[in-house]
Amino acid sequence: METNYKHTTVLLDEAVDALVIKSHGLYIDGTYGRGGHSKLILQRLGDMGQLVGIDKDPEAISHGEVIQKQDQRLTMYQGSFATIKQMTEEKNFLGLVDGVLLDLGVSSPQLDDAHRGFSFLRDGPLDMRMDPNSGVSAADWLAVAEEDEITDVLKRFGEEKFGKRIAKAIIEKRQSEVLTTTHQLVEIIDQAVPVKDKFKHPATRSFQGIRIFINDELSDLEKALDGILDILKPGGRLVIISFHSLEDRIVKRFIRKHVQGDNFPRGLPVTEAQMNKRLIAHGRAIKASKQQIDANPRARSAVMRIAEKIL
Ligand SMILES: C[S@@+](CC[C@H](N)C(=O)[O-])C[C@H]1O[C@@H](n2cnc3c(N)ncnc32)[C@H](O)[C@@H]1O
Repeated sequence: METNYKHTTVLLDEAVDALVIKSHGLYIDGTYGRGGHSKLILQRLGDMGQLVGIDKDPEAISHGEVIQKQDQRLTMYQGSFATIKQMTEEKNFLGLVDGVLLDLGVSSPQLDDAHRGFSFLRDGPLDMRMDPNSGVSAADWLAVAEEDEITDVLKRFGEEKFGKRIAKAIIEKRQSEVLTTTHQLVEIIDQAVPVKDKFKHPATRSFQGIRIFINDELSDLEKALDGILDILKPGGRLVIISFHSLEDRIVKRFIRKHVQGDNFPRGLPVTEAQMNKRLIAHGRAIKASKQQIDANPRARSAVMRIAEKIL
């Protein structure tokens, strides 16, 4: 099913500038989406440059394949960026990559297409998988999950303070009804939430929590970071745009750890080389400007961090 749904790219120039594109370089866009960043990277690459576009979502891949047909510098790869190291190894790119970009979370086409089940505003099948051909849909998970597990997902990933009430309501409802649609879930949440936020739809946090869980978003990020230092060449850039404080915390801690290097007991005479510092951080977190947020409210929660491999 597709789609003329558009995605407005967040921090487009800022992210591509941060990658410092070398004309002959090799870059990976780990979250191709609708190619917003990729297209600008291709514009800045020379004839010998290469770009690998990764996405879990088959619709994102189909979009990229149209461009790939006209531009052989682009290679699309369907899968999770969690496997970025294996993928790089298979292509013999290990240690040769000049820059990796991750623009995390979901794309606007995923949210806007009711059939994907990500949206609490549009009725559709309760799916929420970025790759609808693998893993467990939100409906299948909610049909069997224990109350405590649902509570934990809503609280941890959705920061939903009424997570327990909502989980209880889901368990109760599923005794009498099979939950198959987004609207069914929205109704349950709407009735379970005792105090409504003036500025937020009552299902916002729960949908976010379930989506993050269903797509393993945080563990995929951790896995990608585990391999990133082996992928990049010295001087290679890592640029990550997060939309959730839990994602940003993972990125921030990863960068800090490798900027500081190995931990040695205080007072031990260690040389700079022995510290094994692997990264330098470029600047602090970058956020979208007011103008960008006015034009694209999704940019509101974006936080971009930039690091460079030194070793
Ligand atoms: C915010 S959008 C990227 C938009 C893109 N930068 C653009 O400008 O068109 C995020 C994309 O990353 C994909 N994605 C999220 N997590 C992923 C993962 N672990 N592995 C691969 N793709 C992922 C989603 O399917 C979605 O298409």
